[in-house]
Amino acid sequence: MSSAEALPECVPDADLSALNTFRLPARASILLRIRSEDELLRLIAVGHLKGRPHFVLGGGSNLVLAGDFDGIVLKVEIDGRRLVTEGEAGWLVEAGAGEAWHDFVRWTVAQGWPGLENLSLIPGTVGAAPIQNIGAYGVEMADRFAGLDAVDLETGERRVFSAEDCRFGYRDSVFKHEAGRWLVTRVRFLLPRAWAPDVRYGEVGAELAARGIELPTALQVSDAVIAIRRRKLPDPAEIGNAGSFFKNPLVDAGLAGQLRAAHPALPQYPQADGRVKLAAGWLIEHAGWKGRDLGAVGCYERQALVLVNRGGARGEDVCRMAGRICDDVRARFGVALEPEPVFIGGNPR
Ligand code: EPU
Repeated sequence: MSSAEALPECVPDADLSALNTFRLPARASILLRIRSEDELLRLIAVGHLKGRPHFVLGGGSNLVLAGDFDGIVLKVEIDGRRLVTEGEAGWLVEAGAGEAWHDFVRWTVAQGWPGLENLSLIPGTVGAAPIQNIGAYGVEMADRFAGLDAVDLETGERRVFSAEDCRFGYRDSVFKHEAGRWLVTRVRFLLPRAWAPDVRYGEVGAELAARGIELPTALQVSDAVIAIRRRKLPDPAEIGNAGSFFKNPLVDAGLAGQLRAAHPALPQYPQADGRVKLAAGWLIEHAGWKGRDLGAVGCYERQALVLVNRGGARGEDVCRMAGRICDDVRARFGVALEPEPVFIGGNPR
């Protein structure tokens, strides 16, 4: 078969333990490596996915494999990055969904195209970035998003999504609500010519000040963010983890007021819709979990929002730990925590 007619490479009984950053052991009946949109379209055309459970895997950095998966894993390996156009507004750049997010960010910054620097060192792929609208240090991916291409895995329809179509929210998008339907193939970003560093987030400003930098370039902001993340967050190459394990919860103004009176030190972030976002890391720490282990799963000692694999953890251990933390935070503060990662092969409780 010539490469023009090739189907994705197929791995039966695939070991997924090295394909998720939490390093949880799990197997899938079949893993398919998707290297191009054409390969994917042929796969759908021959009916390979019909009626079989499947999920889309990027860098596996926001994933909890709670058990084995009796179905097809579509591992996205579509590469390539390019400048699409350059205009008055800025630079329109595009990357294949399988590109590593951080490498892509550093590439844009090195080209002199600013805008993504606050999102440096976030693990995962470009294609996964819009799924949960990744964000850090005052910037969300949605702020720079210019569109994406996706394929409907049921029908093979190719569709272009605008920002509006994606319905981005805090760590949320339409793709989380239509899980399993779309496979993102390429993502575009508009990197603004009229750029100013975004250092509203206190830690970034403090890091730059400590380096004696007053008017930072995008590269200097990126370097500062990398330094902060290295200090506070475990490197998945060394300690298995999936980044923030819980979302920062949104509560109504009434509960926020009660909590403010009882716990003045709890960080609160008022939202445009009247609700208030609370720092989940603070709640977990003050429920007594920071630095504590339950079996092989730990609550990270430098950032309580991150659960880590101390060695040999299994999906059910992670679910048990997450459940205990949720129970304690609810009992102590009356706040429900929601996990941030996607769960496959089981439930958080
Ligand atoms: N805090 C504590 N104890 C902790 C952790 C945090 O008291 O153990 C307090 C901090 O002192 C601070 C507040 O909580 O006042 C916020 O903490 P931090 O700045 O570390 O940010 P976060 O809200 O905990 C979010 C994102 C991170 C992102 C950082 C920086 C979510 C779920 N997490 O964490 O994203 O890097 O802001 O912008 O929104 C991720 O999603 O995987 C991730 C790492």
